[in-house]
Amino acid sequence: MSEGDANGYEGVASIYIAGRGTRPLVGDAIGVATVRAWAQAFSPGATVLDLGSGPGEPSTRILQEAGLATYAVDASSAMVAAFRDRFPGVPIEQNTVEASEFFHRTFDGVLAWGLLFLLKPLAQALVIEKVGGALNPGGRFLFTAPKEPLEWLDAMTGYQSQSLGAQTYERLLRDAGLTWVAEAQDEGGNHYYFVERRQPSHGLEGRQQ
Ligand SMILES: C[S@@+](CC[C@H](N)C(=O)[O-])C[C@H]1O[C@@H](n2cnc3c(N)ncnc32)[C@H](O)[C@@H]1O
Repeated sequence: MSEGDANGYEGVASIYIAGRGTRPLVGDAIGVATVRAWAQAFSPGATVLDLGSGPGEPSTRILQEAGLATYAVDASSAMVAAFRDRFPGVPIEQNTVEASEFFHRTFDGVLAWGLLFLLKPLAQALVIEKVGGALNPGGRFLFTAPKEPLEWLDAMTGYQSQSLGAQTYERLLRDAGLTWVAEAQDEGGNHYYFVERRQPSHGLEGRQQ
């Protein structure tokens, strides 16, 4: 693992954690209400993977409070150490999401808050494809990225960020067997893509009953 694997977040981890991940309880961090509503729609015990979890505050905390079985991956050793302090025993892998071993498992949900647009376009496409392969039928994926195609420098790291835009994300999702079903904007201006892996149809529609 190298510093670049976390797209600059290893170098700013202590500042990020102090700003977003120090509170023992989830308070009013940006996006909490949106992620909580998404998490609460799963059945208790459902499995959810938190991609680019950072210290797990607030994302993994919200998932745990919703009674879900959580898994997390982050490339930054400092973020992973902070996560382990807060969530002893909760599975977390220090790895890039592109290479995560967790994609050999299946999940009822995948969350990627503030992550996808940090990756290069090909890596974004790869991760979407992997999410498609890892979601159970009926499973749900929630990620944030601007709606418009856009390139900018990350305010904390100075690294290049890139949104592929809704049209391209929709195509990549479709190619991965996923359906973009809804969108939302939070109080911080983050754009959310609500995505599902639809249950296969049982072909009853045309059948004589
Ligand atoms: C903007 S922070 C979001 C953290 C967390 N999801 C939250 O809600 O606060 C982005 C996180 O993604 C991690 N990250 C960046 N690139 C990554 C990659 N290629 N693989 C895994 N984690 C990565 C960073 O270390 C950082 O913790």
